[in-house]
Formats: sequence, structure tokens, C-alpha cells
Amino acid sequence: MTRIGTDISQAVELLTEGEVVAIPTETVYGLAGNGTSTETAARIFEIKNRPRFDPMILHFRDLSAIQSFVIDIPDNGRKLAEALWPGPLTLLLEKTKKVPDLVTSGSPKVAVRVPSHPMLVQVLGALDFPLAAPSANPFGYISPTTAQHVADQLGDQIPYILDGGPCTIGLESTIVDVTGSKAKVLRKGGVTIESIEELVGPVDVEERSTSRPSAPGMLQSHYAPKTKFKLTDRSLKLEGVNVDKVGVLAFQEYWPGVPRENQILLSESGDLYEAARSLFAAMREMDNQGFEIIYSSLVPDKGLGRAINDKLRRASMNV
Ligand code: TXA
Ligand code: MG
Repeated sequence: MTRIGTDISQAVELLTEGEVVAIPTETVYGLAGNGTSTETAARIFEIKNRPRFDPMILHFRDLSAIQSFVIDIPDNGRKLAEALWPGPLTLLLEKTKKVPDLVTSGSPKVAVRVPSHPMLVQVLGALDFPLAAPSANPFGYISPTTAQHVADQLGDQIPYILDGGPCTIGLESTIVDVTGSKAKVLRKGGVTIESIEELVGPVDVEERSTSRPSAPGMLQSHYAPKTKFKLTDRSLKLEGVNVDKVGVLAFQEYWPGVPRENQILLSESGDLYEAARSLFAAMREMDNQGFEIIYSSLVPDKGLGRAINDKLRRASMNV
């Protein structure tokens, strides 16, 4: 059985021994292990039930710790790193041999990130290796934003969950490939596209998944709740429907015609940061209510709203 606690030295000790430990980050909880060990990486894939073609992000204490793991950091990458790290940004760079092939699923590029969560910063500071860490959810399900979310699904498979409280961003990191002349956003996340473009100029954005996505987080059915999830709007007509079996994940206002206790508001004041922070926990809560269907609608498509809408669209692809 797993233990949930705030003991940083316990986490460091287990990680040093090659164990897999759940760690808090500012984005979502991660399932972490020694990122220089093929054996530990294999164990992470196994616990997460994740296909080996879906590579993992390496987490470092700072930019200088990354140097020997990448061939170089192009100008665009350096600008983004200097302005946005530590924080919810992941850069894709050319890897060196120090990165096990299993971590990148055989790709010559590695995803790297410097997180800001204070407990994780302490853990990374005490280790002499980076941490490979995918989100700590079973493959295909919603990412966890609390220690309890991790315990609910993976608790019987890991010795320790480091509890850093609810994640302050609540969406995964934004992934940017900076190996080409023009930066390319592969996954929308906690850093807005607007703030990236302010630093490096116009970027390409990978909007839709393909059969061979360059970031498999782009697979369409990612982040899906188990309950049918449908995007519509508040004017939806529910005549003849048993509304007790209907859940609504609303943005600012309750929807008419559905009991309020079946609804969750993401942000009454319309704050996209608050909505991002609440989104995954709200989806999980809705998913556990036994509803026949959950309705939701898109939020304003700007700033963090673009990443939120991306998650909502993916969640709605389970029908
Ligand atoms: O915020 C985050 O990024 C969280 C926290 C724990 O850091 N991590 C996270 O990891 O979301 P994960 O594994 O759930 O999603 C990372 C995505 C995957 O979809 C993966 O395909 C993509 O990053 N990725 C990782 N390495 C890559 C690579 N070498 N090339 C292309 N995509 C890569
Ligand atoms: Mg994930």
C-alpha cells in the first residue's frame, strides 16, 4: 500500500534507490523516477500502462543541469527558458547519449522542463539525476491535480506519494519544439501561446492529432472521463430527459433545467486561471457521480482558454 506524506527526504531516498514515486508539480502530479535509468523508465511505463511509443518529459533543477543531456539549446529555446522557467513549459531539444532511448521512445529529441513547485525543487536539488515523469494517471485518463487523485488510481503500485497540495496551474505544461527555425507548439498547456509569441514571434500550433502524432499527448482520446461527455451550450433543450442523471460542467453560470447539485462552476468570476485550476478535479468529480451524460461548453478561446478548450474537446471524444 502506498503512503501519502510530505517527507521530502523519504521521496529522495526512494528515488535514489530506483523506485517510482508520485511527485507534485505546479501543473499536474507526476509519476517520477530516475531519468537516466532504462530500468526505472520501463517500470514507469508499466505502472502507467502506457505504450512505449509515448515518450516522457525529463525534469531538471535548472537550465545548467540540462546542458549535458542536450546537444544544444537554440536561441528560441534559450529565450523561452530564461523567461518562463521554472514553470509550466516543456522544450523539445536534440538529445545526447545520456538520455536513455526508452525515455524518448527512440526519438532523437528529448522533452525537458524545469518545474517550479517548491517541494519538487527541493527533491531535484537533492538528486544527481533528472526525473522522468509522465502525469500520474493511468494512460488515457484525466491527469491528477491532488495526491488523492493519484492514490485513487495508482496507490497500490507505488510506495510513496509526495503531497504538495492541489496543483496551482492545473493543466499540463505547454510543449514547444524549438529545434527548427520556427518554434512549434505541440501541446497547449499552462503557458499561453500569446506569452510564447511575445518572446519568440509567431509559432506554429499543432491543432489536431494525426495517426502519428509528434506528441502522443495529442492522441484524440486522451484525458477522457469514462462517462459520456458532450460539448453543447446552456440553451440545450432537455425535455423528456431524466435530468437527475445529467451533470453539467459549466464555466461561470449554472445551466437552466439541471439541478444545481449536478453542476460544477469552473469559475464564477470568469477567471481562466481559476477555471484551469479546477478543470481536472471537476471532471473527475463529475465522472464519479454515476451520471448518464455530462454536458459542458467551451470557454473563451484566448489565453489559458485555448488549452482548456483543447482538454474539453478531447474529453468529448469519448462518445
Ligand atoms: O506538466 C507536465 O508536463 C506534466 C508534469 C508531470 O510535468 N507531465 C506530463 O507528462 O504531462 P505526460 O507524459 O503525461 O505528457 C507529456 C507529453 C506526452 O504526450 C509525450 O508524448 C510528449 O510529452 N513528449 C515527451 N517527450 C517527447 C518527445 N521526445 N517528442 C515528442 N513528444 C514528447
Ligand atoms: Mg499525461
